[in-house]
Amino acid sequence: MSRRILVTSALPYANGSIHLGHLVEYIQTDIWVRFQRAQGHEVYYVCADDAHGTAIMLKAEDRGITPEALIAEVSAEHQRDFADFHIAFDQYHSTHSPENRHYAELIYQRNRDRGHIETALVRQFFDPERRLFLADRFIKGECPTCHAKDQYGDSCEHCGATYSPTDLIEPYSTISGAVPVLRDSDHYFFRLPDFRALLETWTRSGHLQQEVSNKLDEWFEAGLNPWDISRDAPYFGFAIPETTDKYFYVWLDAPIGYMASFDALCQRTGLNFSDWWSPQSRCELYHFIGKDIVYFHALFWPAMLHGADFRLPTGVFAHGFLTVDGVKMSKSRGTFIKARTYLDHLDPEALRYYFAAKLSDRVEDIDLNLKDFIARVNSDLVGKIVNIASRCAGFLLKGFNNQMKAVQHPLIKALIDAGTAIADSFEERQFSRAIRDIMALADRVNQWLDQEKPWSLAKTDPNNPHIQEVCSISLECFRQLITYLAPVVPQLARASADFLNIQDLSWDARLTPLGDHKLNPFKPLFQRIEQKQVDAIIDASRDNLIATAEPAAVQSNAAPVDTIQNQIDIDTFRKLDLRVATITTAEKVQGADKLLRLIVDLGEDTPRQIFAGIRQAYENPEVLVGTSVVVVANLAPRTMSFGVSEGMILAAGPGGKDIFLIHPDVGAKPGMKVQ
Ligand code: MSP
Ligand code: ZN
Repeated sequence: MSRRILVTSALPYANGSIHLGHLVEYIQTDIWVRFQRAQGHEVYYVCADDAHGTAIMLKAEDRGITPEALIAEVSAEHQRDFADFHIAFDQYHSTHSPENRHYAELIYQRNRDRGHIETALVRQFFDPERRLFLADRFIKGECPTCHAKDQYGDSCEHCGATYSPTDLIEPYSTISGAVPVLRDSDHYFFRLPDFRALLETWTRSGHLQQEVSNKLDEWFEAGLNPWDISRDAPYFGFAIPETTDKYFYVWLDAPIGYMASFDALCQRTGLNFSDWWSPQSRCELYHFIGKDIVYFHALFWPAMLHGADFRLPTGVFAHGFLTVDGVKMSKSRGTFIKARTYLDHLDPEALRYYFAAKLSDRVEDIDLNLKDFIARVNSDLVGKIVNIASRCAGFLLKGFNNQMKAVQHPLIKALIDAGTAIADSFEERQFSRAIRDIMALADRVNQWLDQEKPWSLAKTDPNNPHIQEVCSISLECFRQLITYLAPVVPQLARASADFLNIQDLSWDARLTPLGDHKLNPFKPLFQRIEQKQVDAIIDASRDNLIATAEPAAVQSNAAPVDTIQNQIDIDTFRKLDLRVATITTAEKVQGADKLLRLIVDLGEDTPRQIFAGIRQAYENPEVLVGTSVVVVANLAPRTMSFGVSEGMILAAGPGGKDIFLIHPDVGAKPGMKVQ
């Protein structure tokens, strides 16, 4: 029976680029959606940019543009990136839209009218210069426990203590540097505890992965608290009805963005919104999300929906985080890879294939091992799949006018029969199991071809009918394989279908044999990946040789399912040999608009050459000559296309023009150790 399915991916923040970590989710969702379509179901896939919040407001201010201009720019970039990764949304919307305002207000008002909203006075730090309330992450100060300086308002990175920002010694605003003052303000709270019974049942009734419901049990035990859904002006978002200076917290209207996006789709196509969102709806609703935002999707969201008389999700599917070569993506390693940087060098379907080969229905992290990535894609897609078609195409063209003939063979039947189990794997999001089964089938076809050896016969007798038979059997099998892989590698599948001269890649269509059938000329279907393409991606991702970390993720106060670590222990830190160096030469690098070539004196016999990604900040590099800076002296030398870089200069700042070299105190001499 045909199902009606609405699918979402989490809405990416409108203040940064899409990177490979995000893509785990959008690729996972897109594969599942394409699979469901191939089953003949009615499927819609919607998403949007998550456009509200303090971070976006501040970023726009820093750039001297309106938040509206910023989010328009980012939305265009996001949509290009997604399209180029073949992620095919039916609607890509924005949370800063009339539809979203409508549903945010409606959901709020219905909950309020049923008594699920309360207000309370909240005492909070306020930045008297910038005139705004400061979330914990915008306050720093001295740790009350170990007295480490410059610790965030909620916890100490040095000793791990957690506290409230008011406990900090000598607190300051990270936005203006001003000393924050305490201020009271009315806040609006969503009474989550009202929904405890509903949530305890819902979270245990098969809508969530087992690991996630276990985590939720812990949260229930810890107790549910009212959720602060308001923020004071100035804020970029929607004003709360009947207030003038209170806004919905970004996380209140973010999931409502799923509805808003779908509503925009309804307006465009004539679908009926309430068929999909009323409590009686028989349509299915699935949210794909990362493990860091489970709390919002498995507790707040169903509660809000229920309180406003809307249906609840059929399923919330959480995935783990991406690591590259076993560790968190890192700027300094060059593994914080933006979608666009990848696309500049490689085929998006290589990544789609690799992620599919790694993904399961579990919440565990998935690793992009770069060596394995190259080997796997080449050996599977090129060596196993494309190989079948390319081996057979030439013989049919030469000896048989590019004509297949009707054949029957147990091998074809075996491949068709396997489609049921493969479909189950896709349905259950066991993509790695699906891929394993598909590749085992490809192995069988290749082994059979090796036994039949049409190439030996073709040497002496290129028109021998046995050749046409073997190649036809192989291509019937190839067609099955391509059908199974189409949700994962749609472009490769499309190109293969063009060669096979067929249109329909649905699961049903594969049951009709190609038979006596004319092929189209064969064209290469997929390029092997070369190590140097991967190297180029890594190089391009770390051309900013900034040793400072990314500013911490600034939007969510999510309680992650399992905390994501960005810490190194003190022993790792001690391995850094930080030294004072004096810059003796500073010049631009031809062909690298972000790099400066520096020669630095570290008090050693020979001066060192360092390439630093600070050119945009120092348009006149000469000014740097004679300056002392802090250098990581024991960084392994790295060969770049311009030469060897023998260290790293420490700098801070958001990047681009705003990079500031870190200077040691006056009087420092080259080679001095930095404590
Ligand atoms: N705006 C919120 C989501 C609101 S949904 C109503 C948000 N945005 S995000 O841009 O930070 O992340 C978007 C999605 O990408 C989230 O599901 C998040 O878990 C996922 N990922 C972000 N970084 C990731 C990795 N490094 N690895 C895997 N998934 C990652 O959260
Ligand atoms: Zn501390």
